[in-house]
Amino acid sequence: MNDVSMSPDRPALALQLHDVDVTFGGVRALQSVSLDVHVGGIHAVIGPNGAGKTTFFNAVSGMVRISGGEVLLNGERIDGWAANRIAAAGMARTFQNLAVFSNLTVRQNLLLGRHVQTRAGWFSAGMALPSARREAARQIEHVERVAHLVDLGHLLDSGGGDLSYGDRKRVEIGRALCMEPSVLLLDEPVAGMNSTETSRMAKLMRTIRDEMDITVLLVEHDMGMVMRLADHVTVLDFGRVVASGPPAAVQEDPKVIEAYLGVKGASDLLAGH
Ligand SMILES: Nc1ncnc2c1ncn2[C@@H]1O[C@H](COP(=O)(O)OP(=O)(O)OP(=O)(O)O)[C@@H](O)[C@H]1O
Ligand SMILES: [Mg+2]
Repeated sequence: MNDVSMSPDRPALALQLHDVDVTFGGVRALQSVSLDVHVGGIHAVIGPNGAGKTTFFNAVSGMVRISGGEVLLNGERIDGWAANRIAAAGMARTFQNLAVFSNLTVRQNLLLGRHVQTRAGWFSAGMALPSARREAARQIEHVERVAHLVDLGHLLDSGGGDLSYGDRKRVEIGRALCMEPSVLLLDEPVAGMNSTETSRMAKLMRTIRDEMDITVLLVEHDMGMVMRLADHVTVLDFGRVVASGPPAAVQEDPKVIEAYLGVKGASDLLAGH
């Protein structure tokens, strides 16, 4: 079924959707969505408000049930699986709204991401046991490595509530990376950020792609960023895929321009200004 032949343990397609439907009451939030996300690279999903971008993330990560079609992660059917099973199979995500615990430190927030990677109970199972202590030390070491990678190494002991907006977003991404995913879903990671924070975030996404061997799937409103950063762009409108391809081709697709008509400055947006 994969269109590129690769070794069986490393299929070329990280994520596949075949004719996926999601319905909320009378609203058809996704209509027969088919999409291939190739291993490696940054794949952006764009579209006007209400186009179904977040629903797409919710559907593939098991947070809403699909009413038709199939979803495959690294070649395996995952639709119908519970969200935690999908996470354990290698999909991690962040949310459109911040989800950092303000009463926990950065270190503790990141440790939550280790949950899927650990043998049951290391946290609660008698810390007096040397094996449990070794396991805890191993987890903390991993968390600290990730913290340095996402540029939070100096903030490990800070409270989640004391961080800047940009740093809280980095905690969310760090926590997702702590799960050691093969696919990372980021829902509007630079929304509400100033230009300095936005370029730091773009740099982090390139690091994740180039150095961590993780496929990044990105929902983003900042067109300039999408066009500069993404290797592949899919455009949703009214729950349907209207275009999918390299950024330069998508940018010039008349269907895409039409999807954005009515959005102020649509052509500027698409030109990345
Ligand atoms: N839980 C839900 N219950 C009912 N309707 C929903 C639910 N989630 C999404 N919808 C509807 O599905 C459609 C797609 O919404 P979705 O949040 O996926 O859009 P989006 O592309 O992420 O938009 P935005 O750019 O504003 O984040 C909208 O019409 C929305 O109102
Ligand atoms: Mg959304």
